[in-house]
Parts: sequence; C-alpha cells; structure tokens
Amino acid sequence: MLAGFTKETMKTRNVRPKKTWCCLKKTLLLKVNPRRPEILKVREASDFIRMGGIVAFPTETVYGLGADASNPTAVLALFEAKKRPLDNPPIVHVETPRDVIDLTAFVPSGAEELMEEFWPGPLTLIFKKSAKVPDVTVAGLDTIAIRMPRNEVALALIRESGCPIAAPSANLAGKPSPTTAKHVFDDLDGRIDAILDGGPTKIGVESTVLDVTVNPPMILRPGGTSVEALRRVLGEVRLHSFVTAEMEVSLGETRSPGMKHRHYAPKARMVLVEGSLESVIDRINGLLGDYKLKGNRVGVLATDETAARYKADIVESLGSRFNTETIARNLFAALRKFDEANVSVIIAESVPAEGLGLAVMNRLRKASGYNIVRA
Ligand code: TXA
Ligand code: MG
Repeated sequence: MLAGFTKETMKTRNVRPKKTWCCLKKTLLLKVNPRRPEILKVREASDFIRMGGIVAFPTETVYGLGADASNPTAVLALFEAKKRPLDNPPIVHVETPRDVIDLTAFVPSGAEELMEEFWPGPLTLIFKKSAKVPDVTVAGLDTIAIRMPRNEVALALIRESGCPIAAPSANLAGKPSPTTAKHVFDDLDGRIDAILDGGPTKIGVESTVLDVTVNPPMILRPGGTSVEALRRVLGEVRLHSFVTAEMEVSLGETRSPGMKHRHYAPKARMVLVEGSLESVIDRINGLLGDYKLKGNRVGVLATDETAARYKADIVESLGSRFNTETIARNLFAALRKFDEANVSVIIAESVPAEGLGLAVMNRLRKASGYNIVRA
C-alpha cells in the first residue's frame, strides 16, 4: 500500500493545521444561476479561495468543499473544516484537460481518450503526481486524483480562482454527501467561508474513481460514470474487490484511502436487505415487525413499486426501481431525511446493481456498515 500522510508525518514535518475553526465564522450564502452564474457572485467566492479560504460549490455529482490545491495551509484547513482524516486525499478539480499536465508526472495515452470522451463529467482519474503538488493535497501519496466537473458554477469558480481546486464532498466526514446547498449548510455552517448555491445536483452520487496508473485501468470507486460506458471506450476495465464488496475490506487490500473510512452513514442504524424482490419485501416486513415490537421508530428505504407494501413510521421512495438515475439522484437526500425524522432504524431495499445502480449499492452497503441481510 502507498504511504499515507498521517498525523505522525505531520508532526515530524512540523506542519500543523491552523486552529482557525475554534471560533465560528460567518458562512456567506451566495445563490447563483446554475446555467449562467453571475460573475460578481462567483468572484466573491473565488476571492476567498485565492486568500486561502474554503468555499462549497455545486458539481454535477454532489457539492464539493473547495480550497486552492496549491496552498498547503488552505488544504489543511479544508481537512479540519470537514473533520476529514488526514490520510484521505481530496479530488483536484480542473477547468480544462490542459491543466492536468502541470499536476501530473505523466499522462498515459489511454487517459487522453478518456478525458476527451468523459470530461467534463463524473470521472476522476488517478495519475502519478508532479513535484509541484503539495504533499498534503495528496495526503502524502505519489498519485493524484483529478477531474473536470460538468457544472458551470464549478468551472467558473475554478477559472476565477486561477488555480486547481482541491475538493472532497462538502459534508462532515462520515455523513451522506450533500446534493443541495442546504445539506452543506446543515453540516458546515460556521466552519467555512461561503456556499455557492446552484440548486440540487443532477447525478446525486459522486464521480467514478479510475486508476489509470495500472494496466488495465481499475475502478476504485463506482460512481456517476458507469462501468459499461468505460468498457465501451477502454475495452478492459477491472473492478477493485471493494467496489462490489459485501463486507469490510481489510486495510492491506485498499488502493484508495477513502475505502477504509466509514461513509455515508445516517445517525440511525441501517440494515440492507438483498435478494430477489419478493423475498426482500417479505423479509423487510418481518424485520419491521421485530424492530417495532422492541419499541423502535423505523424507516424503510423503498422504491415506487414497493413503497405501499410497508407499514413503517416513514417510508421513503427513491423512485422507480427501473430508473437507476433517479434512484442515484435521490439517495443521499433520503438518508438525510431519515435523520431529520429521528428514526432509530432504517431498513433499506437493495436495487439492481447495473449502470448507476452499482454506485448506489456500494453506497448503501457502506452506509449500513455492511449490515447486510440475505433474503
Ligand atoms: O463527485 C465527486 O467525486 C465529488 C465532487 C465534489 O467532485 N468529490 C468527492 O470527493 O467525492 P471525496 O473526497 O469525497 O472522494 C474522493 C475519493 C476518496 O475515496 C479518496 O480516497 C479517493 O477519491 N482518492 C483521492 N486521491 C486518491 C489517490 N491519489 N489514489 C486513490 N484514491 C484517491
Ligand atoms: Mg466524500
């Protein structure tokens, strides 16, 4: 496994995050037109980035929490603001594929084709990094994750800031990723400088992370670009065992630092029920009865076709089971709704793991802490 940027290495290199977060900041809310973002509002946000501040912004996948990728102090403050472990690097967002040259040691030829085909869009590529990139931005790894988002607000912010923007998802570490500015505000009000509100995000799950330093390329995280679409361009693409994992993967097998951290987790405990549809419905109703008897407030995460079959305290539908794009778009907001409704248990249906469904199932399994029941 590649060496991580741990608290220990931080100490020995004598770089410590500034404790600016002990005092609450005023978080500025800037509502912008998602298609034609008002330049003055974007500049208000980019002024913060250029001064080493932190700004949340929409992308086509989820909201990102941005800092100047070339400013180590700003990136450290970013980790601090979202309480992110220092060994899990953010994705560096660029305005054009040309920006990749400065950030990388070398661009494999297959990667150029991928950028042409899928950028701007929900595909993050892992390259060998160049010496210019600060260690903290890549958490001490010798590789860097880069993507060009398909969102006018994000692209305008990068352009006006005049630097690549390091941005993990704009949630507190461990929580579901934010798909609206309100989700960001709920998690990070008082901890960041500004939020650019460009409305709800279109895709709803994060980008696909593809390692192009290996041959054939390997998917480290399934996301907004489907495996099927990547295979059409690349031919062979491998899936890291973690992508389809049904249990916790041991640390030695991780290639992407994010794999080993708890993710997407709602406050309530969550059970994911997998199997054929009718047996899933029966099993969920059985579990529902058991949990209710024990005095729990229970939520069920269902789909349009099945929602009426459950008598839970709350039933949230993700949309039609046959439309994985809608399901992906609604997933994280639904998990946050259960939190607001104060349920103590969430029982979730599985969905078909095709197209974006693979990313949805990966998030559901992680959100449940791999608490999976086979129906
Ligand atoms: O759609 C997205 O990807 C969103 C938006 C804001 O762009 N961003 C996002 O960032 O999801 P984050 O930080 O929550 O997830 C980045 C993932 C993590 O799993 C991290 O471990 C992985 O990318 N990653 C970052 N740098 C890496 C590297 N050099 N090698 C392998 N994995 C890396
Ligand atoms: Mg994240």
